[in-house]
Amino acid sequence: MKTKALYTGSFDPLTNGHLDIITRASKLYDRLVIGVIVNPSKKSLFSLEEREEMIRGVTAGLPNVEVDHFSGLLADYVNAKEFNVVVRGLRGTSDFEYEIQMAQMNARLFRENVETVFLMTDPDCSFVSSSMIKEVHSLGGSVDGLIPEIILEYMNKKNKV
Ligand code: COA
Repeated sequence: MKTKALYTGSFDPLTNGHLDIITRASKLYDRLVIGVIVNPSKKSLFSLEEREEMIRGVTAGLPNVEVDHFSGLLADYVNAKEFNVVVRGLRGTSDFEYEIQMAQMNARLFRENVETVFLMTDPDCSFVSSSMIKEVHSLGGSVDGLIPEIILEYMNKKNKV
């Protein structure tokens, strides 16, 4: 059976922590779709189109990785597109509390034979979040090594650095 996995998030913007999970997951599954969530209630720095474009640029070297977007319930998207696996990254115990709740709720909503699989985040990125990257960069701090070069270029344009 061919495995089709989904890795979701806001990716506003994608960080090296996300990229580490994407790279490792792409080796585990036949196809990996990066599903960018369209969440009108979460104010984002980058538009959906910009986030998708940035992710396509960063993952261009990974042939089995695709970029898509969805809105509404994650489980509805998973069931409609017939994913077998939902990949989540765990940065530490604080992520675990929220993730286990989400995985258990989703398990009730997924069709048969869909599993949530957790990968441990690269320890170098365990403290990284998109919000922290945006805050540090907007205040002139260095985010070198924490986001891919392509993303840094987009951020510099946004913040007119
Ligand atoms: N490295 C670095 N940062 C990471 C990371 C990693 N490996 N994994 C997560 N993060 C960061 C993200 O950048 C994000 O930062 P931010 O809050 O500053 O933007 C933060 O950790 C939280 O990430 P995540 O939990 O993936 O949140 P999200 O907003 O990016 O995505 C969804 C959340 C889309 C997975 C979730 O809201 C969802 O499924 N929504 C659909 C609605 C639904 O079905 N609800 C019912 C669920 S049971």
